[in-house]
Amino acid sequence: MDKSLLKLFPYLKPYNSHIIWNVIYNILYAFFSTISMLTLLPVLDVLFGKAKEVFTKPTYTGIGNIKQYGTEYMYYQISTLTQGNSIQVALLFVVLMIITTFLLKNLFNYLASFHIMHLKNGVLKDLRKSMYDKIIELPISYYSEKRKGDIMARMLGDVNEVQNSFFSILELVVKEPLTIIFALATMFFISTKLTLFVLIFMPISGWIISKVAKSLRAKSLEAQKESGFLISIVDETLGGLKVIKSYNAEPNFKNRFNDSVMRLLNLSNSIGTKNNLATPLSEFLGVTTIAILLFYGGNLVLIDKTLDGSSFIVYLTLAFNILTPAKAISKASYAVKNGLAAAERVFEVLEVENEITSKEKTTDKNTFDSEITLKNIHFKYEDENVLKDFSLEVKKGQTIALVGQSGSGKSTIANLLTRFYDVNEGSIAIDGVNIKDMNLQSLRGLMGLVTQDSILFNDTIKANISLGKPNASDEEIIEALKIANAYEFVKDLPNGIYTNIGDSGNKLSGGQKQRLSIARAVLKNPPIMILDEATSALDTESEKFVQVALENMMQNRTSIVIAHRLSTIQKADTIIVMKKGKIVEQGTHEELIALNGTYNKLVSMQSLE
Ligand SMILES: Nc1ncnc2c1ncn2[C@@H]1O[C@H](COP(=O)(O)OP(=O)(O)OP(=O)(O)O)[C@@H](O)[C@H]1O
Ligand SMILES: [Mg+2]
Repeated sequence: MDKSLLKLFPYLKPYNSHIIWNVIYNILYAFFSTISMLTLLPVLDVLFGKAKEVFTKPTYTGIGNIKQYGTEYMYYQISTLTQGNSIQVALLFVVLMIITTFLLKNLFNYLASFHIMHLKNGVLKDLRKSMYDKIIELPISYYSEKRKGDIMARMLGDVNEVQNSFFSILELVVKEPLTIIFALATMFFISTKLTLFVLIFMPISGWIISKVAKSLRAKSLEAQKESGFLISIVDETLGGLKVIKSYNAEPNFKNRFNDSVMRLLNLSNSIGTKNNLATPLSEFLGVTTIAILLFYGGNLVLIDKTLDGSSFIVYLTLAFNILTPAKAISKASYAVKNGLAAAERVFEVLEVENEITSKEKTTDKNTFDSEITLKNIHFKYEDENVLKDFSLEVKKGQTIALVGQSGSGKSTIANLLTRFYDVNEGSIAIDGVNIKDMNLQSLRGLMGLVTQDSILFNDTIKANISLGKPNASDEEIIEALKIANAYEFVKDLPNGIYTNIGDSGNKLSGGQKQRLSIARAVLKNPPIMILDEATSALDTESEKFVQVALENMMQNRTSIVIAHRLSTIQKADTIIVMKKGKIVEQGTHEELIALNGTYNKLVSMQSLE
C-alpha cells in the first residue's frame, strides 16, 4: 500500500463512526440498486403478458432455492392481486415496487454521502491545523531554505487535493466494488453461462485503462511544485512592489511569471489529456463488451432458448450498470494518484524534524539572577564560519553593546541567544544553565527582542503591542508606549491604540514602527533585552525619539544592544567591537577612544556625517 496513504490513517481515526456508517449505507445502496434493476423483470413480464400464475404460497427451504423462492413469491403476490381485479392493478403494483426500491436506493446513497462529507471536511480541518502547527513550530532556519510560496501551496492547494482524493478513495474501496459485486451475483443468478462470458472481457478492458494511468503521478507532482513556485512569485511581487515599480522591473517579473505559467500550462494539459482519455476509453471498451454480449446472449435467447427475453433485457441493464462504477473506479484511480501526490507534499512538511526543540527533561527557568555566558562559540549558517571562537560574559544589570562592520555577526548573536539557531560548537549559558537544557518557552520568556526590521502585523496598535502579554490593560499599553516614546504620535491617531496600522505596519513611518516594536518589548518586561537597532537612517528628530525610547528601556535591565548609531551606546558598560565574527576590541567608550583603534575610527567617521 502507498506510504502516504498509510500516513493518512491516523487522521481518519477520529471519524471512525462516519466510516462505518458510510460502509453500511453503501452496502444498502448497492443492494437496493441491484434490486431496483430486478424489479424491471415483473414489469416486463406483465407487459408482455408472460406473468406466471402462482396461487400457492411458496415455501422457503434455504439459500439454495432463494432464486426460485423469490420469483415464485413475487408472482404469487401478482397473481393474488390480479385475481378478480384488472391487469392494471398488477401493473400498478410492480410500478410501486420500482418506486420504492429506487427511493430506498437514493436515500441510502444520500446517507452514505452525508457521512463521507463529515469525514472529508473533518480530515481537511485536522490536516490544516497540523500544517499550521508545524509551520509555526519549525525553526527560522527552515524558511531561509524554502520558498514561502511553496509552503503556502502545500498548506492551501495540496491539503485540499488530499481532501478531494479521500472521497475517491472511499468510493473506490467501498461503494463501486459493492455495486459491481451485487450486480454480478444477480447476473449469475439469471444466467451463469452469460456471466462467465462477461467475466472474461471485464479484466481485459480494466487492464488497458490502468495502463493509461501509470505515468500520471509523476506529472501531477511536478505540477504541484510548479504552482508552489507560482505562488512564490506572486508573494514576492506583492512584497516588493515598490522596488519593482521604481526600477521599472515589471517586464522582468512578468517574464518570470509567464515562464512559470507556461510550464504549468504544459503540465496541466498533459495531465488533462490523459484524464480526458479515461472516460471515453472506458465507455467505448464497455460498450464493446456489451455488444459482444448482445450477440452471444441473443443467440442464447433465439437459438438455444435457454434464456427468456425479459430476463435478458434485465441482464443487459445490470451489465450496463456495472459500467458506471467501473468507469468511476478508473476515474477515481486518477484522482487518488493526484491526491497521493499531494499527500506526499503535505507529509513532507509535517515530517520535517525540528532540531530546535526543548529536550524531554528540561529546566524551567523563570528568573535571571547573575550572568549570561557565551563560551568559545563557533557558528555557521552554511559553509563559512560566521562566528569564530566567540566568548562573552554579560553580568546582570549591565548594558553590553555590540558594534562593528556590516556582516560581522552581530544579529547572529541575537539569533543564537534566542535559539532561533543552535551553536555548532561552544555553549551559551544563563546562570550556568546551558540554554539547550532549558525549556524553550521559559528561555524565550526571559528575553525581549527588538528585531533589526520592525515586524508588525495588520492589526490594531494594541494587538501588536500586547503580543507578549495578551491581557494587558489599556493603561499598561499606554504606559509602555510612553516609555517607548511612541505615545506622542499614537495619541493623535483617530482611534488611538485601537488604530489599525495596515499590512506590516505600512501606514506608519519607519521611526514610528521602531518605537512600536520597542513598546512591545517594554510591555513584556523581560529581565534580558536584546535590541537589534535598525540600520535605516532616521532623520535627526526621529533618531532622538528612538534614542530616548532605547535609553528608557535599558534602565534597570540587562541589555545587549546591537548599535549602528554609536551615540546610542556611549553609556554602555562594555562595548564589544566585532570584525568578521571575532572580537577585536572591548572596553568602555572612553577606554576604546583612548585605544585609538577600530572603534575610534568608527566614531570619528560617524561624527563627520
Ligand atoms: N539566514 C542566513 N543564512 C546564511 N547566511 C546568513 C544568514 N543570515 C546571515 N548570514 C550571513 O552571516 C553573516 C553575519 O550576518 P549578521 O546578520 O550577523 O551580520 P550583522 O553584523 O548583523 O550585519 P548588519 O550590521 O548589516 O546587520 C553575514 O555574512 C551574512 O551573509
Ligand atoms: Mg544585523
